[in-house]
Amino acid sequence: MQHIRAIAIDGPAASGKSTIAKRVAKKLGYLYLDTGIMYRAVTLAAIVYAVNVDDEKAVNRLAESISIDIKPPSVDDNRQYDVILDGKDVTWDIRSPDVNANVSLVSSYAGVRKAMTARQREIGLHNPVVMVGRDIGTVVLPEADVKIYLDASVEERAWRRHREFDERGEGLHYDRILRTMQERDHFDSTRELAPLYAAPDAIIIDTTNLTIDEVTAQVMELVSQI
Ligand code: CDP
Repeated sequence: MQHIRAIAIDGPAASGKSTIAKRVAKKLGYLYLDTGIMYRAVTLAAIVYAVNVDDEKAVNRLAESISIDIKPPSVDDNRQYDVILDGKDVTWDIRSPDVNANVSLVSSYAGVRKAMTARQREIGLHNPVVMVGRDIGTVVLPEADVKIYLDASVEERAWRRHREFDERGEGLHYDRILRTMQERDHFDSTRELAPLYAAPDAIIIDTTNLTIDEVTAQVMELVSQI
């Protein structure tokens, strides 16, 4: 098999990107980077530091100034990694409904995207990586060797997210999750900068009726064909 440097996995909310990417990265011995964490961390920072999320300039400045570290998990609570924002463990805080409701707006700002994309590209150019997000195959690493777009029906995706909240003991109504997800997907797909769409050379996998093992196997099959 030819050496593969970067695998880009894009797709809408809760389409299984991070679960699949983590498994594929482990099998290949590649770094795994979930870029959504960075946008979530900027959003959380705005909330915690009381920066108005509607104030684009202020949020852009904030994105330039905060430190976001992603480290191997230090706590055994189902986390995939530790997310450290300005020295504080915010691994679960970045998954809150408040962050979910504001992250798309924050991610649409040019200054935020510029700061985050530069950090992501830097990592992608220097490490074999499986990178996950909305614009990895289209903007961040358009030269990726394999591009995958994971999708699933919005109802199935909302149920998956519902189960995740349940497992953390945070009972959220399915209808609320579904509504926020639909709004976020719409906003992410129609924004001007780096909107969510499948790159023309991406392979689209509909995961609605597939297990995690089945999707992982399909991705590994695609990788082996390179
Ligand atoms: O885990 P989930 O699919 O719900 O979302 P995520 O991947 O953590 O991304 C959260 C939000 O960050 C998305 O709804 C996008 O607005 C934004 N995002 C982005 O704009 N570009 C990326 N490369 C990754 C995430």
